[in-house]
Amino acid sequence: MEEEASRHNVVLVMDFGSQYTHLITRRVRQLGVCSFCLSAGASLDAIAKLTPSIVILSGGPHSVHEPGAPTVPDGFFDYVREKKVLVLGICYGLQLIVKELGGVVRPADSQEYGSTEIRASLGSKLYGDDPAMMTQAVWMSHGDEAVTLPPGFNVVAKSVQGTITAIENTELGIFGLQYHPEVTHTPKGIQTLRRILFDIGGVVDDWKLQDLLEEQIELIKSAVGPDEHAICALSGGVDSSVAATLVHKALGDRLHCVFVDNGLLRYKEQERVMETFKRELHLPVVCVDASTDFLSRLRGVTDPEQKRKIIGAQFISVFDKFASHLEEELGKTATFLVQGTLYPDVIESCPPPGSGKGHSHTIKSHHNVGGLPEVMKLKLLEPLKWLFKDEVRKLGKLLGVPESFLKRHPFPGPGLAVRILGEVTESHLEMLRQADEIFVNSIKEAGLYDEIWQAFAVLIPVKTVGVQGDRRTHAYPVILRAITSEDGMTADTYEFKNKFVKDVTGKICNTVRGVNRVAYDFTSKPPATVEWE
Ligand code: XMP
Repeated sequence: MEEEASRHNVVLVMDFGSQYTHLITRRVRQLGVCSFCLSAGASLDAIAKLTPSIVILSGGPHSVHEPGAPTVPDGFFDYVREKKVLVLGICYGLQLIVKELGGVVRPADSQEYGSTEIRASLGSKLYGDDPAMMTQAVWMSHGDEAVTLPPGFNVVAKSVQGTITAIENTELGIFGLQYHPEVTHTPKGIQTLRRILFDIGGVVDDWKLQDLLEEQIELIKSAVGPDEHAICALSGGVDSSVAATLVHKALGDRLHCVFVDNGLLRYKEQERVMETFKRELHLPVVCVDASTDFLSRLRGVTDPEQKRKIIGAQFISVFDKFASHLEEELGKTATFLVQGTLYPDVIESCPPPGSGKGHSHTIKSHHNVGGLPEVMKLKLLEPLKWLFKDEVRKLGKLLGVPESFLKRHPFPGPGLAVRILGEVTESHLEMLRQADEIFVNSIKEAGLYDEIWQAFAVLIPVKTVGVQGDRRTHAYPVILRAITSEDGMTADTYEFKNKFVKDVTGKICNTVRGVNRVAYDFTSKPPATVEWE
């Protein structure tokens, strides 16, 4: 992050726990500006290392008056004044600025959630003289409000209910918006962000994926010594395919790809993926069948965290063996492991700000990062770890990765193990594979695959009663899940026509032995996650 930051203007987003924080980062990147997110507990030193031109203080679920509510580090406002860093507070961020600099914030008489109209005053730095910006619809979500501003601040917009919605101190370069400019429900929000970044903050839109690509290739070349080799586990999905292609550009035949059959794959996945690697990706890949080891270690284990940890440890043991094989058989020393870790994996592996938990607290042994054991012989190369999924897809396109890879729905590393609740058994895997194949094939046949971010089936290991072929059955329910999402951080339910779900239900119950009931999961993320475990 620091190397990247040293080459560009940086907009740093301090995360106070809002569900929209990552969206602010994305919007800034969409405007061509390098942006990172730091958790609210970050030290002043960590902030200064990134030499930000702008710091955005995000929204958050807390009240600034709560004991232990997240805040900026000591000396933050002196630092921004001295370094002339522009500060923008959004929602909680605005309230924090007001409280910290000597104003008054208190619980609002009537809380505002949803779309509200605001009126701005002509000639402010934030809104300028554009008549189109003077009245606008914005998205609010707050319980507290600023009532008295600190010295030197002016109110530049109010909501129709009279709430202070925008403030500025042009001398200090500190601004605040009570609403969320980053969400699409604030239609002119992107214009306001543009004004803050470019017209007021004077940053340059110098951040392009092509630059990032070239920088990452250079970084990998300098990190991996001339006699060192790297291993990359390919899953057949977007992230690992793009990561491998990128690292291949830097290391050429010093990259060794492996596809691990962990026994938790979907229907015919091994054959299909290996065939596509050969035909389309043109990267040399070795297939290791480790299914017996994975499944025997998972026997009798029902705790979801435990399952993820076992799988993470097993993967590493396979990679270590693969590295030894390269060393012994071919005399090549593999010291690096390439992972397709993405930014959401990094963000979601951190505890929520204000939770009082340190960074070592595991929310969920999540994704590529958290699922790996602490002691590992191989060093990690994670060239995509600052990118969101849609950015990885664009990068893949730049690298010439075939569409068939880029369009595949994500499939988690722990595979079907996190879609079979409780113990993973051969018979549960078999049922789930069949049900999943029927569901995904039906989606493809209906031409809906590309509209959906991810679709899959889940097996619930609790028997329910049914009647099939004139007989009473006690069999398992299958849950179908299909979601739309921009980056996997939040997700909405995909709404099929009822007939489609009914037809798939019929096909599954008629074909998959051991299943007599199908339900559709309508839960968004939050409150649920995408996967079930
Ligand atoms: P959740 O379930 O956390 O998932 O809402 C968000 C996205 O991440 C994928 N996911 C994983 N990907 N290894 C991965 O490579 C994992 O362990 C993992 N767990 C979840 C999930 O499929 C969804 O797309």
